[in-house]
Amino acid sequence: EDQRSLYRQRIKQRLQERDAVLVAHYYTDPEIQALAEETGGCVADSLEMARFGRDHPASTLIVEGVRFMGETAKILSPEKRVFMPTLEATCSLDIGCPEDDFAAFCDQHPDRTVVVYANTSAAVKARADWVVTSSIAVELIEHLDQRGEKILWAPDKHLGSYVRDKTGADVLCWDGACIVHEEFKAQGLLDLKAAHPGAAVLVHPESPASVVEIADVVGSTSQLIKAATEMDNDTFIVATDKGIFYKMQQLAPNKTFVEAPTGGSGAQCRSCAHCPWMAMNGLENTLAVLEDDNGCGQEIFVDPTLAEQAMKPLDRMLDFGA
Ligand code: 13P
Ligand code: SF4
Repeated sequence: EDQRSLYRQRIKQRLQERDAVLVAHYYTDPEIQALAEETGGCVADSLEMARFGRDHPASTLIVEGVRFMGETAKILSPEKRVFMPTLEATCSLDIGCPEDDFAAFCDQHPDRTVVVYANTSAAVKARADWVVTSSIAVELIEHLDQRGEKILWAPDKHLGSYVRDKTGADVLCWDGACIVHEEFKAQGLLDLKAAHPGAAVLVHPESPASVVEIADVVGSTSQLIKAATEMDNDTFIVATDKGIFYKMQQLAPNKTFVEAPTGGSGAQCRSCAHCPWMAMNGLENTLAVLEDDNGCGQEIFVDPTLAEQAMKPLDRMLDFGA
């Protein structure tokens, strides 16, 4: 514990010396979220992280999250230095959507408006007409559908089919999934709901349709947190990464939050409701990056041509979500 508090002290000092700020996602470990809060950084969903990073006056951003969040921050603020505790923190959606295959898919469907989830590489974003996060996905697709546009959606098939069901739009989906949300199981959730009759069920739309169907509220991380604070229920069953419990518990200390069941345990369970890449963000590697002027090689660089192309759909996302 002494060691951890020394890390925290030193991180605070180095953030000041380097004119840097922490930008953390709700899925990172509680001590990272707490540190971001204490030091004037943000803890947020992926849309809010993008906006915070762009608007904050600090010259250096330390992105506590996964790679696409660091890349998005860099694209929106090319003049800032952007570091991550480790560049190895990726995302199964990003991995599952390689740029060449994606470009070929787009080429096969030139009549469709290309909408990609924020959880993609800069190269995939560069090919898109729109970038979205889960907090604005339904509204945006509704808007495009009303304009008569047909959609090519990538990479998350569960979010894609949720959006299609909600809007009735013509949505052609890429076949990708999040390894964390994919593990939630409908039967286990129904059993747990039966054991907690007064509980509200909160589900992130990266979960399978059978799980989404059981939800009282479906939404992005910040929308689920809002529901947890505003709804009258005493108990909530939550189907998303367990990192989110930190903020829910903080904002609603008298309520009970229960983890939704995943497919297996131990070796059977690849993620167990905690993203293995989000979990790579720790005090030690955050400090290491801040101690070294070159950030131990964990600085984000995005090819300027790609960045320029990716900026357009990202700007549209931020304007639409404003
Ligand atoms: P949101 O924070 O936008 O809901 O995204 C969830 C996610 O999977 C980020 O990894
Ligand atoms: Fe990607 Fe899923 Fe991890 Fe989010 S939780 S970063 S979508 S693998």
